[in-house]
Amino acid sequence: MTKKIKPLKDLFKHQFKIGAAINPEILAHDEELILTHFNSVTVENDMKFGEIHPEENRYAFERADIIADFVRENHLTMRGHTFVWHNQTSDWLFKDQSGKNVDEATLLDRLEQHMRIMNQRYGDIIYVWDVVNEAIEDKKGSYLRESLWKEILGDNYIEKIFRLAEKVNPSVDLFYNDYNETKPEKRDKIYKLVKNLKDNGVKIDGIGMQAHWSMDKPSIDEIKEALDMYASLDVKIHITEMDVRLCNEGEKPKFATEPEPEMLKKQALRYQAFFKLFQQYEAIESVTLWGVSDYYSWLDDFIGKGNKTWPLLFNEEGRPKEAYWYIVDSFSE
Ligand code: XIL
Repeated sequence: MTKKIKPLKDLFKHQFKIGAAINPEILAHDEELILTHFNSVTVENDMKFGEIHPEENRYAFERADIIADFVRENHLTMRGHTFVWHNQTSDWLFKDQSGKNVDEATLLDRLEQHMRIMNQRYGDIIYVWDVVNEAIEDKKGSYLRESLWKEILGDNYIEKIFRLAEKVNPSVDLFYNDYNETKPEKRDKIYKLVKNLKDNGVKIDGIGMQAHWSMDKPSIDEIKEALDMYASLDVKIHITEMDVRLCNEGEKPKFATEPEPEMLKKQALRYQAFFKLFQQYEAIESVTLWGVSDYYSWLDDFIGKGNKTWPLLFNEEGRPKEAYWYIVDSFSE
């Protein structure tokens, strides 16, 4: 007997939005799956500063527009990703004509113009922006990651950027987003950052937990502790980039053309436990997978070095994996 597919977005409609990161190629390949299961979309790369604003007087809207039009036509919603990051950001933004770093006022002015254009073009569909992405240092003993943003705007640059984002659009939600968000060392720094911002009266509406997780890590207890801490700050929580690679942390999957059945079962149990946990938190407003089907995941390059990592809920043919069914079974109305 074949089981009946249940749209994930219907299953969780009283709990959280369910999203997927996509690009025009994923859209062409997996449109039906996206429309069946997801009500929120994140643009995987094409709204990042370097992609969409490669030169001071040139925007490259084409790829982002394909996704934005799809979102409008199908009445979906979008997470805006991202304004300020140390990666995939144009060099011109930080430099004057002689190649020297610009001053603080110039950088803030350039960022403000960029935020305004993005809000004008996509403000009708974007309900939340990842304003600052991955600004915390992973290493013990240091707090913020070194970047040109920090160098030019100073140690309190994140506060300046959130204030700017609020000035440009006071009605969109403003989030801080990061990875390794459940590891105690980094979790505590994220907590401190968001607490300081709130204490200083800055509008910050939520924390994005990327959730690039593995077969062994993080543990459910670790995730729970992080969720409890973040929720205690009275902010919204979004799971923003979830995937669960078919190997342990720090490893890459054993080379194979097919995923091993016992690993798929283990992955299904992990996904089930995560979704059971998410359902217990009112603060969680949105859960986004970083991709749609195993036909494409950024992890195949990043972790697999060209080999498959099978981290998503649908297989390479777009059929639901055990992980999907275990999530459906975990759902409690
Ligand atoms: C990744 C994309 O998926 C890749 O295609 C790109 O080459 C690198 O960036 N954290 C983030 C995302 O916030 O923007 C990253 O996306 C994955 C890690």
